[in-house]
Formats: sequence, C-alpha cells, structure tokens
Amino acid sequence: MFVHHKPNWALNENLATDEAVFLNRRKFMKAAGIGALGLGLSGLIGCEDPASAEAKGAVGKAGGFVDPTADLYPAPRNAAFTLQRPVTDYAYSSVYNNFYEFGSHKKISNAAQALQTRPWTVEVGGEVGVAKTWDIDSLIRAMPLEERLYRHRCVEAWAMAVPWTGFPLAALLAKSEPTAKARYVRMETFMDPKVATGQKQYWYPWPYVEGLSIEEAMNDLAFMATGVYGKPLAKQFGAPLRLAVPWKYGFKSIKSITRITLTQERPVSFWEGIDSNEYGFWANVNPEVPHARWSQASERLLGSGDRVDTQLYNGYGEQVASLYAGMENDKIFF
Ligand code: MTE
Repeated sequence: MFVHHKPNWALNENLATDEAVFLNRRKFMKAAGIGALGLGLSGLIGCEDPASAEAKGAVGKAGGFVDPTADLYPAPRNAAFTLQRPVTDYAYSSVYNNFYEFGSHKKISNAAQALQTRPWTVEVGGEVGVAKTWDIDSLIRAMPLEERLYRHRCVEAWAMAVPWTGFPLAALLAKSEPTAKARYVRMETFMDPKVATGQKQYWYPWPYVEGLSIEEAMNDLAFMATGVYGKPLAKQFGAPLRLAVPWKYGFKSIKSITRITLTQERPVSFWEGIDSNEYGFWANVNPEVPHARWSQASERLLGSGDRVDTQLYNGYGEQVASLYAGMENDKIFF
C-alpha cells in the first residue's frame, strides 16, 4: 500500500498542496496500475525550501564544459520587458526546478548536469516552407539575442521572476516560413533515459511535449530562452533552448527542446496526456479559475516566501488577452 509520509519541509504554505500531491499520486498510480509496486511517484505539486537546498554548489558544476556561445552574454536588455517585483535570486531559482526527466522533485540541479548539451540540434519541420535542422550554436548566433525580465508562475502556485536571454519564437518561425496550414506549434524535449533517468519512469508519456497555437507562438511575448542571469542557460533551467511563455502556467515552458513541428492538429501536451482534467492545453493563468484540487488565487514567491495575489494572464493581459477573443467559453484557463 502506498503510504504518504509528510516531509518536514512541506506546508510552509497555507495551501493544502501536500494532500493534493498525495491524492494526485494515488489517482495516477492507480490509473497506471503501479500502486501495488510501491514505486515512488511525485505529482506535479511539491514544495521544498530552496534556502536549505544543499544543491547550491550545483551551480557551475558543469564538468568543465565551456559553452561555445558564452561570448554572446550578457545580451542587451530590452527595456520593454520589465517587472514590478524583484528578480528572484539565482541561489533560489537554480536549485528549485521542475525537470521531470531528472526526477519528480525539485532538487534536480545536480542530476541535470549529466545532460550533454553539445552537440545539439533543433529540428524545425512540419507545415513549413523551409524545414531545417539547426546546429544549436548556429541557431543562437543567427538570432537577435536580448535579455527580458519575465515573471514565471508555476501551476503549483509558486512564482519567480527571471532575466531570460534569448529571442522571440516568431523570429525562428519567420525563418521557417510556416504554410497556411500551420495552426499549432508542437515542441519536444530530448529523449535519453541513460542520462535523464526520470525517463525510465515508463508511466510518464515521454518525451515531454508542449504546444502553442500559431497565434500564441507569433506573439512577441513567446520567447526562446538560451540564457539566464546574463549567462548561457544552466542545465537545470533547460539548456540549451527552452520556451518562456510567462502568461501561462510554467509547465507550458518546455525545456531542452530538440524538435519544433508546425501542425494542423492540436498536439497533446505532456501533462494534458497524463490528466486532461487537471492540466489543459491552454493553461493561461487566472486567479479565479482554481486548479481541480487547489486555489490559484495567490502565489508564493521563491526566495522571500511572500504570498501575493495572482494576476490574470500573470499580469500580461495587455499583450495576450486579444489572442483569446471569442474563446471565453473554451477551457483556456487550466
Ligand atoms: N520541461 C521539461 N522538458 N520537463 C519538465 O519537467 N517542467 C515544467 C517546465 N518545463 C518541465 C519542463 C514546469 S512544471 C515548470 S514550472 C517549469 O519548467 C520550471 O522551470 P524552472 O525549473 O526553470 O523553474
């Protein structure tokens, strides 16, 4: 029988997320038929105290790897993307990560250093005029790099503010010349269970997949991050290329992308494939639409631990609300 032991780091928060994790685990394990095996499976929800994370030393432990694009950082900051909250300290954001390929908990930063990010290719294909497999360094050098300060709101109700460096997804799509049939952009993470041992957990639908509508992908806010805090992306953040879509719950911001496919059909994303009643395709932030098992009204800031009100579209309504005009009756908020 699966027994839930409440870890002593849990529930600094006011939300009953811990119980939610438990219920989610049980439901999922039952669905996957693995409860009797006693296998550990963390739900998407979890809360650890990053201040106590011994993994602080993980930062920079990249086995002597020197990123071939390091000379491009720091890139000029685009002043159009600023914040009304302080940037989260790297000491917190770099040791409190969701990257299920390396474990279904937050302390994956050491394990993620095993990821080999060179050579690395990104295949862009599907409904495009110009299909191309990019070498990551050529891609990064071909793009207009800039730094943007973005909010990040995890569906688990924690939040951070991050200085991403990268380029608009629209800039890459422009080079690919989407056809008139392209309605969605499907993105996929690498698949290598030898390195990413989380991918041996066969009950997850690997590889991690996410998607946007073509209109969302062309919106200026949809950003491909290649760096963070003025340096090339540290591996736990999803090196060498990750998405940042700050008006959506964090699970949409797929890490370590290897394939981008423009499609006519809406892709099924990773968490949607696990439980579409809890993690939808659109996943736009809305404080008034609770998750199936907890409120989304407020969020806990990584670092200070302060709890603040959540904002509609995570504060980016001015830039993105028009994307959803006429879709009010669709499930665009979970
Ligand atoms: N991408 C991949 N490939 N695998 C993941 O497990 N987790 C998502 C998203 N992208 C995830 C992923 C979730 S749930 C969140 S909240 C963010 O990454 C976390 O990003 P961070 O670790 O940089 O804070």
